[in-house]
Amino acid sequence: MQTRSEVAPLEPRTLPNPGIGQCMIGEEETNLVNQVMKSGLIFRYYGLKPEDRPALADTFEREFCEMMGVKYGLAVTSGTAALECALAALGVGPGDEVIVPVWSWISCVSSIVRVGGTPVLADVDESMTIPASEIERLATDKTKAVLLVHFQGVACDLDAIMEVCRSRGILVLEDCASSVGASHKGRRIGSIADIGIYSFQFMKVMTSGEGGMVVTNDPKLYERAVRMHDVGQVRPAHAAHIEPTEISFFGSNYRMTELTAAVGLAQLRKLDSMIAKTRHSYHRLAEKVCHLPGVSERTMADPEGNLGIEMYLRLPTAEHADKVTAELKRLGIPCAQRTGTYAQYAREYIVKRQAHHPEASPFKDVKDWPAPGYRREDFPRLNDIVPRCVVLPIGVLYTDEDIDFIAAGFQRAHALAGVG
Ligand SMILES: Cc1ncc(COP(=O)(O)O)c(C=O)c1O
Repeated sequence: MQTRSEVAPLEPRTLPNPGIGQCMIGEEETNLVNQVMKSGLIFRYYGLKPEDRPALADTFEREFCEMMGVKYGLAVTSGTAALECALAALGVGPGDEVIVPVWSWISCVSSIVRVGGTPVLADVDESMTIPASEIERLATDKTKAVLLVHFQGVACDLDAIMEVCRSRGILVLEDCASSVGASHKGRRIGSIADIGIYSFQFMKVMTSGEGGMVVTNDPKLYERAVRMHDVGQVRPAHAAHIEPTEISFFGSNYRMTELTAAVGLAQLRKLDSMIAKTRHSYHRLAEKVCHLPGVSERTMADPEGNLGIEMYLRLPTAEHADKVTAELKRLGIPCAQRTGTYAQYAREYIVKRQAHHPEASPFKDVKDWPAPGYRREDFPRLNDIVPRCVVLPIGVLYTDEDIDFIAAGFQRAHALAGVG
């Protein structure tokens, strides 16, 4: 290991905010929001006069579908709402198991419980996503669906996963909350499986503050998602796309406002230019750090489709990762992972198997808790991989110079920690 004095010195620096869409809010968003305010049409379905016809949420859905290459899009209030609508659309309910990666956000698990299903936690591999082999291992005759999480700009191995799920009659929901705009073999994610969801929360690739979208090519799934998001109804704005045939059911209210749609639409129109920028930075950084001894880049089923919004590098040991992270932090490089993604077995609601009412917990009748499948020791790959990871930030405002500074910082930290 080189000593601190042998490694080239590097002074700390203040980098721009590492965000994506949140950093690009500007005139376009303001203009569309002003347009809504001047019209007074802030509710998406009607205004004060019978002839009022608000249109921004409709336009947002249409342009979103065009970009993602999918037939139907439904704007909702959040990614969590989108998950509930998608699961309800798929008909997930009591007695149904849904396989979901253990490395995910709370809503991925809670939304399954909220519709009455049972979350079955799957381990992840070096892509930080669920491999097809886990679905094969966990599938039972109760498995209704798999909730895939395309994690931080990188798609799951969709070819292998779809093959396993199609052969077993398992439905597939793509959670693209943290990967809006990523693709898999030339197709945008969300459009490939049965149904897809996105989030536009403030920390996401594009943002409307809060917000989400459900997409599908299946008119029945679209209709059921519409009903779930609007207390069982299908209003004319949605009936314009399909002939309603499904029976109404008790839904919720997850309707997007015109104001939120205005911000979302402006951000959507910037999405591809933001992605071009982060991909450029990712490649520049990868050339300088991924080949270093002892460093492995996160695996990807299709590296071309990666958004490049964050770089996950694996080191030989957790101790190396801790040392490298400490040095990067000293240099002012914000290398904490951007998302609130955690090992779900450790979350309080799993540990206490808690739903809003004791009878609503899918685990209420399990005798010994935590049962196999919900304990730390059931996820050996996750617990091997995560402590060894260093996450390098890639913000849309980062210049080539900023990226070169991060690369120099990583090279220095790598040498000081004696990696490789
Ligand atoms: C993978 C994943 N799914 C769903 C969500 C929920 O999105 P929202 O915060 O918009 O409800 C998130 C949010 O972080 C997420 O990371």
